Amino acid sequence: MLKIQNAVTIDGSRMNLTIESTKDFTLDAQNLTIFPGLIDPHVHFRTPGLEHKENWLTAAKAALAGGYTTVFDMPNTLPPTITETSLKEKKALIEAQLAEVGIPLRYELFFGADKKHLSEIHKVKHDVIGIKVFMGCSTGNLVIDDDESLHAVFAIAASQNLIVAVHAEDEALIIERKKQFSDAKHYCDHSKIRNPEVAARAVAKAIALCRIYETKLYILHVSTADEIALIAKAKEEGLPVYAETTPHHLFLDDSAYDNLQGKAVVNPPLRAEEHRKALWNAIKNNVIDTIGSDHAPHTNTEKSQAYGACPSGMPGIETTLPLLLTAHHEGLITLEKIVSLTQKRPREIFGLPENNDVVLVDLNKTRFVDNATLKTKCGWSVFAGQELRGWPLYVIMNGVLYDLATI
Ligand code: DOR
Ligand code: ZN
Repeated sequence: MLKIQNAVTIDGSRMNLTIESTKDFTLDAQNLTIFPGLIDPHVHFRTPGLEHKENWLTAAKAALAGGYTTVFDMPNTLPPTITETSLKEKKALIEAQLAEVGIPLRYELFFGADKKHLSEIHKVKHDVIGIKVFMGCSTGNLVIDDDESLHAVFAIAASQNLIVAVHAEDEALIIERKKQFSDAKHYCDHSKIRNPEVAARAVAKAIALCRIYETKLYILHVSTADEIALIAKAKEEGLPVYAETTPHHLFLDDSAYDNLQGKAVVNPPLRAEEHRKALWNAIKNNVIDTIGSDHAPHTNTEKSQAYGACPSGMPGIETTLPLLLTAHHEGLITLEKIVSLTQKRPREIFGLPENNDVVLVDLNKTRFVDNATLKTKCGWSVFAGQELRGWPLYVIMNGVLYDLATI
């Protein structure tokens, strides 16, 4: 039995907790606040094929270090996860890596929608958490940029009762704007090319498809006030539309390029301050349901390349919770809301069963984000050097206690 004594609950009361375990251990949790094991509905752990950036040996540790015991992994790997065979092979590799590192992280896989492989969806419907649709190109070659295929995906997903998760950036508009900005050479041009209209146009299209087919729609990494307005309306209409935002869109804006250079390049891009404020408002108003880290590591070398060659994406799973807890101390968000965004709503929306995983957090521990101690294989964070207040110290997953200082 694991006995957690005197832990603080998020509403400030005290509790003792006993968790079934093969080991006996008693932890005095006087100064620790107890959270449920967090769920990250959006990660790119890079297996197979991109394992110079990340793999599940390093990512499993990064997840625990961030307080996460469940992750949903994206299909833009090499090869992409777009067939039953590639899904099975990916699962086998993940299982082997998790066994090797001795961390049985809970995970689910998104299946990639690909025009040439739509019939594969029927074969995998019981084995995936949802269908991922890239409406605009990002890392990898996955994209559904024609209306006929988009309609087909939404129709199939509805018939199989699968949720569609969209990367909502309009490919046609991206291509048009790339031509307009053909001499772009600064990283900050990224935010101009993939402007708010690029996102809003795709979100409007996805919502229209959700209305036609009654498909459950999960809108990934919402980053603009424009998208929020559309999503709020869809929710008022009673459509099954759910929205995610990311830590980088909540905590950074497009002034970050000056310091971060290529490391600030991400899809969708960082936005002007007014959009960041709109995201915080949308969290308050329950228009945003979840936070996904969109943990998308690339190597230092890759991110140092010039604009155009520099890949989009940044790691995030280790810093999401400390960033949110620091925002809590600043009066921006309640602990209940943090739990709602990072555990309760993902579980409800995707229909995950309950588990008894917990994270024990020292709400008052301050620590600088330090590239040298990160678990992610890429070894950097856009938040490096920032002092954050509120860090997870222990995770109990499936009855096993992990001391995060020693994983
Ligand atoms: O910035 C991004 N990076 N956006 C995506 O859609 C993909 C991700 C990645 O896989 O690197
Ligand atoms: Zn992503």
